[in-house]
Amino acid sequence: MKAAITGINGYVPEYILNNEELSRMVDTTDEWIMTRIGIKERRILKGVGAGTSDMAVEAIRGLLEKTNTKPEEIDLLICATVTPDMQFPATANIISDKLGIKNAFSFDMNAGCSGFLYALVTASKFIECGSNKKIIVVGADKMSSIVDYTDRATCPIFGDGAGAVLLEPTEENLGVLDSILAVDGVGRHHLHQKAGGSVKPPSHETIDAREHFIYQEGQPVFKWAVMKMADVSEEIMKRNNLGADDVAWLVPHQANMRIIDATACRMKLPKDKVMINIERFGNTTAGTLPLCLWEWEPKLKKGDNIIITAFGAGFTWGAIYLKWAYDPK
Ligand code: UT7
Repeated sequence: MKAAITGINGYVPEYILNNEELSRMVDTTDEWIMTRIGIKERRILKGVGAGTSDMAVEAIRGLLEKTNTKPEEIDLLICATVTPDMQFPATANIISDKLGIKNAFSFDMNAGCSGFLYALVTASKFIECGSNKKIIVVGADKMSSIVDYTDRATCPIFGDGAGAVLLEPTEENLGVLDSILAVDGVGRHHLHQKAGGSVKPPSHETIDAREHFIYQEGQPVFKWAVMKMADVSEEIMKRNNLGADDVAWLVPHQANMRIIDATACRMKLPKDKVMINIERFGNTTAGTLPLCLWEWEPKLKKGDNIIITAFGAGFTWGAIYLKWAYDPK
């Protein structure tokens, strides 16, 4: 039994924060951001009380409609996120309640920017062992809730968004065929949120010290990301005997255009086989991979070999070899 993606949908908020507006907030320019990162604009979720679950709900509602699936048919929902609605309960539980998903269990997965990748692999195991039949995996992040808009080194990078897939069993040789997941916790020193957890609970001091925002040392993160995303993508191709000609699409995490280029280059893939929307959405953390698949869905054909790869906080990284399961509808 294999786990096939049988539907995909995405959601991005309406508000567009472009580089011009950002350059009025911090000392930066469109030219610097485009050259160093490759982002022109990102979406921001506005509105009091609007959180990650609201974007996930929009993505999943459309997914259920597209796939003619009733909420009660879903038997597992996994939400990958680093910006949960609240510390507990899990955002996945909140999403299930808002959508009337009553016959499922649900939980969150925190693997930084590799969250969707980790969640998709986890979900595929529940299908492969026969215990679940209709699983939703959603990657959703409201990064604007933890971005410091006075820090020019991090604020251009991130945006808000969500993407969701429906996963179902198939007896054909389709869906998630292989995966590699990896972690090195030493990376936590370079990318984390200093306060708000059990080590440093929120206090007036932590707020004054701006410790509830993303802390990132860009250069080490960049070096690790380039190395690990390229390594793991090459490894998964090799062990599945895939050459560049066999791969229809690369779906890379959208953190930096230069990291995407380096990965594609190592895989010897031309740019027209690489899904790239970083210019319009930025880094939506757990949202990047499903948002790419959603935008490219009309071009995907049954049997297409797809490599999905990501790198993120932890450090976490990995790759999936996926065979697309349906033709454009
Ligand atoms: O998805 C989660 C994983 N995260 C990532 O993958 C991010 C990985 N890292 C990166 O993408 C890059 O390191 C950044 C985009 C964060 C930074 O790019 P960089 O080429 O590594 O720049 P840098 O940090 O070395 O800074 C170069 C210069 C510095 O000025 P000086 O010291 O050379 O005078 C910075 O102060 O650029 C300056 N700088 C900026 N200038 C204009 C930093 N941010 C900005 C800015 N606008 N927004």
